[in-house]
Amino acid sequence: MITADVKVIEKAIVRPVDDAHVAPQIGLEQYYSEAGPDYAAWSREFNMHFGYYRAGANPLDRESMLEQMNAEVLARLHLDDVAEPRLLDLGCGLGATLRSFAHRLPSARLLGLTRVPWQVEQAHALNEAAGCGQRVRVIEGDYEHTILPRGSYDGVYALESSCHAHGADKGALLAEAHGLLRPGGRLVVADGFLEGDQSRSALQQRIYLKLCECWVIEEVSQLHLFTARLEQLGFEEITVEHLQLRVAPSVAHIPWVALKFLLTDVVSGKRKMTRARWNNVLAPVLLPLVSAPLGPMTYCMIAAKKR
Ligand SMILES: C[S@@+](CC[C@H](N)C(=O)[O-])C[C@H]1O[C@@H](n2cnc3c(N)ncnc32)[C@H](O)[C@@H]1O
Repeated sequence: MITADVKVIEKAIVRPVDDAHVAPQIGLEQYYSEAGPDYAAWSREFNMHFGYYRAGANPLDRESMLEQMNAEVLARLHLDDVAEPRLLDLGCGLGATLRSFAHRLPSARLLGLTRVPWQVEQAHALNEAAGCGQRVRVIEGDYEHTILPRGSYDGVYALESSCHAHGADKGALLAEAHGLLRPGGRLVVADGFLEGDQSRSALQQRIYLKLCECWVIEEVSQLHLFTARLEQLGFEEITVEHLQLRVAPSVAHIPWVALKFLLTDVVSGKRKMTRARWNNVLAPVLLPLVSAPLGPMTYCMIAAKKR
């Protein structure tokens, strides 16, 4: 009886975020290779991130909100005075943000890194089709340990890719970004972060862990540790913007996109439905259950300048 009571209490106990580590069952490369083509259901341009809603925009037009997110990242890199900016995308997916920047900055030189060979091939084909294959390069590599030239980038960014990095402060990723930037260059990171009193119910804890498993995330970054690491590395002019309300209109598209995907790609689709593909449907459905205002996860865009 006592044992049973203790178990009930243990289940109901509010667990600190520090305990919330996940050992994903599917590797990152497998996940993005198998689920990668399914991102077409989310974005015809293969933007693998949420959208940014601006007052007056059409909240039903998902693609333009996704593109606006690219524009917001670019604006925070402050490249107006740089004649031929060198930019590096840490975790570039299929290169949608790189192509957007190539279009907006005709003199920029753009490089994207991804750990997934399938994405390198696909991004290359998409860059060629978009006519920017000469100026946009995507290579395979680990953004925590690159062999790229130190101190040589005017801007470095990670758009919804930092979540995959190690540690609650994403220290290795931030140290690498710092090393790659030139003095005065800027880093922009947009992603989900944990903040607040860092507590959650047992049910939310389980949902959080499932979400991380589905998206192959070891642990979501804790906002205060992330910003402390930026300071410690020598970044200055650190700004943190909470964009939960800006991304909410695109998050609201998830049920419709998931339903359409299930009807078209699962019921009548030809590709085999794998665990990785199911995970990619499940994760965004779980996300609102552990995000603000219900849970401790929130969406932030963080910018910082290298001294
Ligand atoms: C959700 S996708 C975002 C892609 C892209 N930034 C976008 O917004 O369309 C996450 C990306 O991070 C990449 N990634 C994760 N860990 C990485 C690592 N250690 N090194 C390089 N890329 C990584 C994945 O390969 C994937 O391309």
